[in-house]
Amino acid sequence: MHIEQRQIYFDQVSAAAIAETYGTPTYVYEERRIRENFRRALAAFKKYYDDFRFFYAIKACNNLAIGHILRQEGAGIDAASVNEILLARELGLGGEEVMFSGNFLSDQDLRQGLESKVIFNLDDISLLPRLLEFGKPEVLSFRVNPGYGRSNVGEFVTNAGPRAKFGVHPDQVMPAYAMAKEAGIKRFGAHMMPGSCITDPDYFALITELLMDLIGRAGQELDIQFEFIDLGGGLGIPYQPGEEGLDIEAAAARIAEVFRKKVEEYRLSPPRLMMEPARYFVGDAGFLVGRIHAVKNSYTEILGTDIGMNTLARPAMYDAYHHIYVDGREGEPRRKIGVCGQICENTDYWARDRMLPESSAVGDLVVVDNAGAYGQVMSYQYNGRLRPAEVLVNGDRHTLIRERETFADLIRGVHVPAHLRKNTR
Ligand SMILES: Cc1ncc(COP(=O)(O)O)c(C=O)c1O
Repeated sequence: MHIEQRQIYFDQVSAAAIAETYGTPTYVYEERRIRENFRRALAAFKKYYDDFRFFYAIKACNNLAIGHILRQEGAGIDAASVNEILLARELGLGGEEVMFSGNFLSDQDLRQGLESKVIFNLDDISLLPRLLEFGKPEVLSFRVNPGYGRSNVGEFVTNAGPRAKFGVHPDQVMPAYAMAKEAGIKRFGAHMMPGSCITDPDYFALITELLMDLIGRAGQELDIQFEFIDLGGGLGIPYQPGEEGLDIEAAAARIAEVFRKKVEEYRLSPPRLMMEPARYFVGDAGFLVGRIHAVKNSYTEILGTDIGMNTLARPAMYDAYHHIYVDGREGEPRRKIGVCGQICENTDYWARDRMLPESSAVGDLVVVDNAGAYGQVMSYQYNGRLRPAEVLVNGDRHTLIRERETFADLIRGVHVPAHLRKNTR
């Protein structure tokens, strides 16, 4: 995204053209930016450890067009549910190009996961006997809780340590792999996902060390090898203006350094190194375009827009910051203004006291930054509001990649029993 003479552009397409063609609110993704993000990260990791592969955590943005971009770049898929395994299949990916990292899986999930022959990544030791009732996976990985995690999205996305619901407890890592070996499983991997949106390279070195110590000890004690070690996602992007981004070269160098050292220390035959980021690839390549429909001057000034907690849940869910631009007004004098959506909840008053152009007015377009990850996928229909459209931009081309919902989507699958249709009064 860039601003030229106060007009906002996605690649070479103006926000005004998007709004005129597709209406608002609309998610817009820059294809070139996604490819640049992926290539920058892959080059950094391959430079320091050649046997490296990314799996894209499709939960962050599950539009198949976006999935195809990342598949073309060489990513596998990290799936959180059976339906995400099916999304990967739509991309032509299956088997060991898909990692199934669901948690608290049902018997049906376990059965369908086995049938699809993807890599099973179990979130708890208790899942293994249940899985074995249905069959033996070819390759098995455990999601390890290394005892520590961190997140720039606050406590909300700290996925490891004592307060997290995820992963195998550090003390259960050895017994988990022992049980798998005992069951006759011969091919192993290991995984963790302790936190999200981290921009400190040292954090990645620390969590790599924690995981490798647990895995290295299990490998030595049980005499098993690991084909891959997956360090999860968590590569951060800056959300606040002026915030420093992740030095991806430094992160890759620090991870590879610790990884090699631990591989040597525990005499592991060098495993493939994997990561499964999402935010780093798509976060800063996606934007939400909305319109100001009302300006209220009450205790404070509030811009009422068609962007709210229903179209972008992160501010209400995580107290997350997203920068806001007003098309045609950037560069004008600013004052403190609030921004809200159209939902009947006060958590929908999602940006308070923002320094926004004071001339912002009804009819103006607003553009929300860094909305590509955990944006559209978390939108919902509360208050009878419909999910937004999604558009992909490349150069001066723009293509609709998901239609805006209509009223038919609001009542799809709803059945009213005949007796309720009768007029009984
Ligand atoms: C298991 C797993 N892997 C990868 C990711 C991607 O994380 P990020 O977007 O922080 O890279 C997530 C996100 O929640 C996840 O749950």
